[in-house]
Amino acid sequence: MKHLLLTLCFVLSALLPAAADEGMWLPSLIAERIDDMRAKGFRLTAEDIYSINRASMKDAVVLFGGGCTGEIVSDRGLLLTNHHCGYDAIQRHSSVEHDYLTHGFWARSRSEELPNEGLNVRILVRMEEVTGRLAAGESAAAIIEAAEAEGTGYRASIEQMYYGDQRYLFVYEQFDDVRLVGAPPSSIGKFGGDTDNWIWPRHTGDFSVFRIYASPDNKPAAYSPENVPYRPKRHFAVSTKGVKEGDFTMIYGFPGNTQEYILSDAVRYVARRSDPTKIAIRDGRLAIIAEAQASDPALRICYAARHASIANAWKKWQGEVLGLERRRVCEEREAYEERFAARVQGDPRYGDLLPQLKAEYARILTPYFAREMLAETLFTLPARYSEAERAEPFFAKRAACERALFRHALKQYDRHCPDGYRLPAFLDGVAAAGSVEAYADRLFEATWSGSDTTQLTALRSDASRMLQHIAWMLGTTSLRNPSSKRLNELYAAYVRALREVDTERAFYPDANLTLRVAYGTVAGYEYADGEYHTPHTTIDGIIAKDNPAIYDYDIPQALRDLHARKDYGRWATSIDGRRTVPVCFLATNHTTGGNSGSPILNGRGELVGINFDRTWRSTMSDIRFDPTVCRNIAVDIRYVLLVIDRIGGAGWLLDEMTIR
Ligand code: ARG
Ligand code: GLU
Repeated sequence: MKHLLLTLCFVLSALLPAAADEGMWLPSLIAERIDDMRAKGFRLTAEDIYSINRASMKDAVVLFGGGCTGEIVSDRGLLLTNHHCGYDAIQRHSSVEHDYLTHGFWARSRSEELPNEGLNVRILVRMEEVTGRLAAGESAAAIIEAAEAEGTGYRASIEQMYYGDQRYLFVYEQFDDVRLVGAPPSSIGKFGGDTDNWIWPRHTGDFSVFRIYASPDNKPAAYSPENVPYRPKRHFAVSTKGVKEGDFTMIYGFPGNTQEYILSDAVRYVARRSDPTKIAIRDGRLAIIAEAQASDPALRICYAARHASIANAWKKWQGEVLGLERRRVCEEREAYEERFAARVQGDPRYGDLLPQLKAEYARILTPYFAREMLAETLFTLPARYSEAERAEPFFAKRAACERALFRHALKQYDRHCPDGYRLPAFLDGVAAAGSVEAYADRLFEATWSGSDTTQLTALRSDASRMLQHIAWMLGTTSLRNPSSKRLNELYAAYVRALREVDTERAFYPDANLTLRVAYGTVAGYEYADGEYHTPHTTIDGIIAKDNPAIYDYDIPQALRDLHARKDYGRWATSIDGRRTVPVCFLATNHTTGGNSGSPILNGRGELVGINFDRTWRSTMSDIRFDPTVCRNIAVDIRYVLLVIDRIGGAGWLLDEMTIR
């Protein structure tokens, strides 16, 4: 039967071509891609990317703070990542007297570098497939324990690939003494704010600088003044030559979560039910918060981080829906499934897979939606207001906004929660109060005054019970990366079947916050009919957007002066005879959340930029990579160097980098 299957001419790929630059590849298997990489302009070898025998690029890439990527750029452990990845650390060191978020921070020497409790980085020691060992009966815990015993500060984990069809051991060295070295003012590091977020053309200097410290014998150690800069096995050299359209680029980092193989049922759920409902609910929350922010400068700051985080996913989902619908991904995937079904008809292993998967989806979609609605409504309400919040001088001014958020959350819950999943405490509360709004007011007043939190506590414990019930029904915690035993087993078999029969397609495991290589080329794209977006922006574009009256576009005077004097030093470049500095660029690398801060490298493995975002419709690439629109956005390393040098006055940092 297997032979028969393989000899069948399987033409799925005509419908779903292995897109040129699609893929997030496992570094230990990169030899399988190296011919393609070299054909696109890579000049080095697979061993240069990942090796366990000698220093390789992987030794210069770090998992930063458990959710971002960073890269080592000196032999003294100097690290680059995004401004938005260092944001928490920068904020925690900021006060009214030393407002590093607003004005930036630059250590003038190593002794001024600031320690950050709780911040760590991980460097991959090695990765290895352990599917066979596990199948042979070895215990995962024993494998992990043995790996952790290999060295100081080692951390190990076993991660699933292809829904658990393969399992890999990852061994990391974790460093817990990571110090803040420098950050530009937010007006550079977050230039454009939420207005420009997920948008091209982009002019954000989204970077910050840290340093890894180790014990005097170069081993991971808790913070100590005795610690010294870490001596890495490898650091990236920086190239100031830049990249032009068509040039090879590669990204080495820790993408968090993608779902490339989900069924049309799941795509439809995301694009037509989940995303649109969550967007609509957040529309209301954002409007309420924005109104409060506009009413008072203290409230603008108080709600800034909250607004930004609500808006980030809200905007991402809109781009994702737009991308999926324009590309007709639901329909495309249905057609793919039809072809698959025809090919495996009667096959004893795979013949029933699709109907089983679809039945499982039909069973879980409503409870899953109920769970999402709880998370987007009732669980956004504060359980109480802390003493610290109450002590803030503007606490009283927040009342109207908070009351509105309570009303909004309860009304949206009432509107979207599927029948059969409504909380008893909610139904009782509404009945007692007479209306949803009156019930929301009661809850708000009790919580706000702090006199009585029992009503909200009752609602929340009902909600927790409901979540447990739903989890039990689903056997899963996340639909988009299903961990349900049943769904996982079916998907594992499905992807196995696809890999067997769809021989034209290049398969790679979904992102799961393990180290990956993506590669592609610098490229613009057709934004709309007749409207081509070039892949480069420059400092002149910052000046064009500059507007002291608009918070997101109000740049530091130093940057205006720099531009007026064209005082760019060795970071200048000439574009069409114009003396300027490049700021951001686009490339076709397949990335997702977690790739923030990743090094973007040229064909020689030199650092040319730092990844920080994708264009709006690109966000569909978490489900379907469309090579015509999917682009990652990087900040050009020359702008980073210019800001460190001319705005930060921290030339001493450049001296320890290897700049070519
Ligand atoms: N969109 C980028 C990433 O997901 C950057 C987010 C930070 N920037 C912002 N303006 N909120 O997640
Ligand atoms: N900004 C994202 C992050 O924080 C990366 C952008 C993306 O999703 O591609 O990881």
